[in-house]
Amino acid sequence: MYFHIVLIGVTITTLYLIRYILLPKPLRGIPHHSSSARRFLGDIPAIKAHIKRTNGSPITFFNFTVESLKSPIAQVFLKPLGMPVILLSDFREARSLLMLRKDFDRSPALGDLLSGLVPDHHIHLKTGAKWKAQRQLVQDVMTPSHLNEVAGPAVLQKTIDLLNLWTIKSKIAVGRPWNAAADLRLMSLDVMLAFAFGPELEHSATSPTLDAVAGLQGTFEEYTSASDEPINFPEERINATLQAMLDLAATVMELHGSPVPSLHWAYLNFKPRIKNAKMLKDQFIIEQLKQGVERLDRATGDQPRVSCAVDQMIIRERILADREGREPQLLSRVMMDELFGFVFAGNETTATTICWGLKFLSDNRNAQEKLRVALHESLTEARGQKRNPTVHEILHARVPYLDATIEEVLRRAGTSPFVDRQAIRDTQILGHHLPRGTVVLCLLSGPSMWSPGFHVDENKRYGARSKTSDDVEDRGNKSWPTEDISTFKPERWLIPRVRGDGNHEGTHNEQFDPRAGPQLAFGLGPRGCYGRRLVYLEMRILFTLLVWRFELMKCPTSLSGYGTVLRATNEPEQCFLRLRAIS
Ligand code: HEM
Ligand SMILES: *[C@@H]1O[C@H](CO)[C@@H](O)[C@H](O)[C@H]1NC(C)=O
Ligand SMILES: *[C@@H]1O[C@H](CO)[C@@H](O)[C@H](O)[C@H]1NC(C)=O
Ligand SMILES: *[C@@H]1O[C@H](CO)[C@@H](O)[C@H](O)[C@H]1NC(C)=O
Ligand SMILES: *[C@@H]1O[C@H](CO)[C@@H](O)[C@H](O)[C@H]1NC(C)=O
Repeated sequence: MYFHIVLIGVTITTLYLIRYILLPKPLRGIPHHSSSARRFLGDIPAIKAHIKRTNGSPITFFNFTVESLKSPIAQVFLKPLGMPVILLSDFREARSLLMLRKDFDRSPALGDLLSGLVPDHHIHLKTGAKWKAQRQLVQDVMTPSHLNEVAGPAVLQKTIDLLNLWTIKSKIAVGRPWNAAADLRLMSLDVMLAFAFGPELEHSATSPTLDAVAGLQGTFEEYTSASDEPINFPEERINATLQAMLDLAATVMELHGSPVPSLHWAYLNFKPRIKNAKMLKDQFIIEQLKQGVERLDRATGDQPRVSCAVDQMIIRERILADREGREPQLLSRVMMDELFGFVFAGNETTATTICWGLKFLSDNRNAQEKLRVALHESLTEARGQKRNPTVHEILHARVPYLDATIEEVLRRAGTSPFVDRQAIRDTQILGHHLPRGTVVLCLLSGPSMWSPGFHVDENKRYGARSKTSDDVEDRGNKSWPTEDISTFKPERWLIPRVRGDGNHEGTHNEQFDPRAGPQLAFGLGPRGCYGRRLVYLEMRILFTLLVWRFELMKCPTSLSGYGTVLRATNEPEQCFLRLRAIS
């Protein structure tokens, strides 16, 4: 009898203990959904229910969480037995976190996903000497001179391929819409390949489709009145090596939500499909590096002529090796992974952002027309001669409304779902204790970014008692008027022109101010996006020529939704385009 009571007691205690071990452990004082804290699976069922109910994504769930808890900071439980993850939706605090704090570093979330694909890319190194050295290896390709002189013409060429494709498509479509997402993917891949390996590369992802679509001309029946039915254009196969790169990048998406990505990668690496794709990719990159070495060794004159990132990296590696008294490692894993990095980091992010941009311009005809007028007023020579502006003209024209449009597309696209960091020691945020290892997600589309922020006690902010620099404070303090914070409005990035800088009088009495308000599209601080300047270049060239050559008409409402799908980035569910060529 007595024995039984003990046994029951022990069993109950054990069950409680197991339950305690399995349940999420909320951090003290940080708001959360209380029902989630009572479930072994934490917020996972709530996320599933939310997605079903709202046709949303994990990102809209995070927004819903901070909004419904009415707090700039919250915690969610995303992994059984895992630590809570912190959501931060306050631009000022996110800004100090990313720019100033040494107690946070790159979180493993990103790195783990890519570990099997590019083990030696700097994206998943902690901020330190090795990271610095690798950034040095690739720094030259983001300098203004490389971007303007080398990357600019390459990007232009690939953009023109896309616009030629769209010219033909718009002729065939006569006013009917089509899905532009695939076209943008092809162009985006071509741009990154040209940037990394040179515009002379024999492969183009766009040209098979361009040829196929050109062959269709005359075979479609002509539509006299515009129909709202989208046209399905053919998509052509691309070279197997390019396809291998696409497949590998797609594999990264399969890993989203995998509990142990590194194990998952180890398993995938046994699969013939993945093995083969990796082999093709590696062979291709090695070949490109070898050709680069030959190209540079053949070059005469004091300055070798540089045509792509491969060239710049070889030159830099030789300089670094010389300085450190070692042999240059021109075919190393680091070189290969950094090069492939351009393809995987630049491809989907840019395509997604441009998709959003097309939607915003189609649906905001007023902004689109203002942009066209601003371009006509600045690029007067090209306008007068009835030709496309040259890459030099595009990159050197002063068009504040264009800068503002690009910045606003970046803001409202919300391409990157969040910017994350990990606490590398026990620390605090907004007065709450965070144990070492806690991951913080700064939201790009939540309160203080796309909707009004919540009140924060000034005394609890980072650096409230110490004096941080006024400049940092000042920028973080700026915010948008609450009534139009969610709309697409390029004007928010324009301020009255400060006079006295030369003789650009006339109609341009506004100037672009990149610090006019909250922006987290590229993250911030030392680990902010390394490719951002290339993105500005690409968007500048594409938007200028697109609006110069075409009118973006509104698509039917049924094809103009603003729903999102979270793949590697926050993609628009629908990316339809209806173009009318400007004669
Ligand atoms: C519209 C396009 C793009 C968007 C929205 C974007 C966004 C981002 C974001 C949010 C981060 C994390 C920043 C942080 O943690 O503070 C990041 C990091 C990074 N991005 Fe981009 N990116 C884009 C295009 C590119 C391109 C074209 C490249 C390469 C050519 C690139 C290379 C990188 C790299 C290497 C990092 C990691 C930097 C580091 O860890 O030191 N990105 N990007
Ligand atoms: C965030 O939540 C608010 C309130 O529920 C909603 O109005 C807004 O559209 C949401 N934003 C996003 C990006 O989901
Ligand atoms: C695809 O590209 C690779 C690498 O340049 C090349 O070796 C291969 O022959 C190409 N395949 C086809 C079918 O053109
Ligand atoms: C490029 O982006 C598209 C989605 O926009 C994706 O399907 C494809 O796998 C990506 N390819 C690479 C090489 O990153
Ligand atoms: C920023 O704004 C807060 C109040 O919103 C104020 O207390 C603080 O002094 C401001 N800082 C600067 C540098 O303007």
